[in-house]
Amino acid sequence: MTDATPRADLRSLRSLLGLRKAETSALLATDAARAAIAVHGTPLLLLDPERVRRQYRRLRNALPFVRFHYAVKALSHDAVVNVLADAGCGFDVATGDELALVLGRGVDAGRVIHTHPVKKASEIEEAIAAGVRTFVVDNDTELDKFVNAPSDVRILVRLAYRSPHAKSDLSSKFGVGAFEAAHLVERGLRRGIRIAGFSFHVGSQLDDPQRFADATAETLALMAELEKRLGVRFDILDIGGGFPVSYESPVATVEQVAAALRPVLEPHARRLDIIAEPGRVLVAEAMTLVTSVVGVAERADGRWYYLDDGLYGSYSNVLTENVHPLVFAERDLRGRDTDSDSHRWATLGGPTCDSTDVVAREALLPELVVGDLVVSPVMGAYTTVTATRFNGRPLTPVAVVGHGMTTGEVAAVPAGAVRQTVP
Ligand SMILES: Cc1ncc(COP(=O)(O)O)c(C=O)c1O
Repeated sequence: MTDATPRADLRSLRSLLGLRKAETSALLATDAARAAIAVHGTPLLLLDPERVRRQYRRLRNALPFVRFHYAVKALSHDAVVNVLADAGCGFDVATGDELALVLGRGVDAGRVIHTHPVKKASEIEEAIAAGVRTFVVDNDTELDKFVNAPSDVRILVRLAYRSPHAKSDLSSKFGVGAFEAAHLVERGLRRGIRIAGFSFHVGSQLDDPQRFADATAETLALMAELEKRLGVRFDILDIGGGFPVSYESPVATVEQVAAALRPVLEPHARRLDIIAEPGRVLVAEAMTLVTSVVGVAERADGRWYYLDDGLYGSYSNVLTENVHPLVFAERDLRGRDTDSDSHRWATLGGPTCDSTDVVAREALLPELVVGDLVVSPVMGAYTTVTATRFNGRPLTPVAVVGHGMTTGEVAAVPAGAVRQTVP
C-alpha cells in the first residue's frame, strides 16, 4: 500500500480485511472450532465443507452452461470430495491417487476427467479400466499411448497461453501452440485416436478476466479453423481453472470473470460440451489455519514470533506460490486488545531450522506471548497438499467443522470425529 493508492482501492481493501476478520472470529467462536482446538491443539486446519458448496453454487450461477470438474490437487480431502459430489460437481484428477480418492467416495468414473498432459502408460490403463474416458495430451509420445484405447476415449489437446501475471503461469511446462495443435489433431486422425476438443489453463490465481475471455476466444477460433480445414468436428472445450481468490487484497470476483467469459462462451453452449477445472476458487476460503506462538525474540530487525506451522508445512503456499496469507492474532479477533498503539510490526517465523521459513515479514500484531493463537484464513488451496515433513514435523491435521460459519448453525463436533488428516 502506498500514498498513491486510490481511495476506492483503499475502501475495498479495508472491507476485505473487515470481512476476513469477521469470518475468522465467527469461526473461532463456534463450538466446533473450540472443540477441535481443545482436542488437537495447534497447529490445526479447520475445514468448513459448506463454504465449498457455496462457492460451487456461485460458479454454477455465474456460468450455468459450464460443467465444473473440481481440480482435486488444490485440496485432496474426502470431505471436499463428498460435498462436491453431493452438489453434482465433476472431478479433475492428475494422478492415480487422486482418482482413487474420488472413486473411493463413490463418485462415478464418468464424472472424472484426467488432465495431466504427461502420465505413465500404466496410469492411463488403470484410469481407463476404472471408467475414465476423457484425457489430455500435448505431445506425440503422449498421444500415441492412446492408440489401443477403447473407441469411446476422448482426447483433449492442451493449448498454452502465456500468463505472466498469474501467480503460477502453467504455460511454461505444458501446452502447445496452434501449429502443434493442428499437427496433433492430424496425427490423431491418422492413428484412429479421437481428438474431441481442446483444453487450456490461463494460469493459477489470474486476476485478469479479459485474459480468460481472450484465451477462450482464441481456442474457439482455432477449433473453427481446424474443423473447416481438416473436416473434423470437436465437441469439448475445457477452459481450465485459474479463478483468483482474495488473499491480502481484493481480486476479480467469480462473477466478474464469468461476465467476461459469458459473451464468448454462450453462443457455443448448445453445440459444445463446455467444461472447467477450478481448484483454488472452490476451496481456498473453506479452510483456516490456527497456529500458536512457541517463541518470542528481539533481533536486530525487531520482534520475532515463532509459530508452530510454517513454509515447510501449511504455509507452503508462501514458498510455492508467493501467496501472502493474512495473519490475525486471536486476541485481536476477540477484541481483547483493541488499542492500536500497542501493536507493532513483527516477523513471523516458522518452526523449522531453515532461515527461509518466514511466514510474514511485516505483520502488525499486538504484544504476543507463548501460547497465543495466530490465525490465517483462506488457507484451503495448495497448502496442506504441498506441505512437507521437513525437520520431522508431522503434517498439520485437518478438522472438519460443521456447516457454514455462523455460530448458531455449527454443531459441536464429537472429539473422536474431528480429526481428519489429509492423505
Ligand atoms: C490441469 C489443471 N487444471 C486445473 C488446475 C486448477 O487450477 P486453479 O486452482 O488455478 O483453479 C490446475 C492447477 O495447477 C491444473 O494444472
